[in-house]
Amino acid sequence: MLKEEIYSSENHSWYIFCRDPEKPENIIDTNEYLIISDGEGLAMDPGGTEIFAHVVSAFSEVIPVSDISTFFASHQDPDVISSLPLWTGLCPKAKIYLPWLWEDYIAHFDLAAVKQFVTVPDEGSEIRFRNGHIIQLIPAHYVHAPGNYSLYDPSAKMLFSGDIGSALLPNSNYSVFVEDFEQHISYMETFHKRWMPSNRAKNDWIARVRELEVDMLCPQHGAIFKGEMVGKFLDWFEALEVGIAIPS
Ligand SMILES: [Fe+2]
Ligand SMILES: [Fe+2]
Repeated sequence: MLKEEIYSSENHSWYIFCRDPEKPENIIDTNEYLIISDGEGLAMDPGGTEIFAHVVSAFSEVIPVSDISTFFASHQDPDVISSLPLWTGLCPKAKIYLPWLWEDYIAHFDLAAVKQFVTVPDEGSEIRFRNGHIIQLIPAHYVHAPGNYSLYDPSAKMLFSGDIGSALLPNSNYSVFVEDFEQHISYMETFHKRWMPSNRAKNDWIARVRELEVDMLCPQHGAIFKGEMVGKFLDWFEALEVGIAIPS
């Protein structure tokens, strides 16, 4: 599994883990992200059961797994959080931030984990590291799940966007960052047309994100938008009509 530090300051880092060569063929490829702030870990969309062993092993290269205090599930999908019971087995004191709307559904993955849940209200909320560093959970409802959030790190100017901005890449050698935007569209256009149900909700999310300073937009599948690619993605997504890829 590829590991790359994508942001770093004195005491605060972001890592991506991706392009897993050992991933079974029939499951969708995912990116896992980890923030480490003064030795405390926050894992975003930690992934599915089938890749859990690879993700644990990769995370362990940068932090003792027992130091991960927080998990964030942007929404309910199995590629996001079906590994929940395995993670709570390793991190029984960690907090699991998840959409309030999905609490009773995600509990189907691990009923015993409910005591570790922190449900996020519709308007969003914050996560605070022990060192005071604040992370914002930004509403992203209906883009694509009806209860869904993006995670924004204001001091790092990093945005984890979950399925938004995702691409189904042609091979596991694809670059970690988007290099050729026009070509990249071909890997994400159908995904967004099919998985994003509402133009109104999509444009509401874009307006929220345009209020933020974003150096990197980091999706759960595909490649990261960095620098000028962030604006290119937002412009492209704004112009795209979604919820229309109905098979005939
Ligand atoms: Fe999803
Ligand atoms: Fe996904």
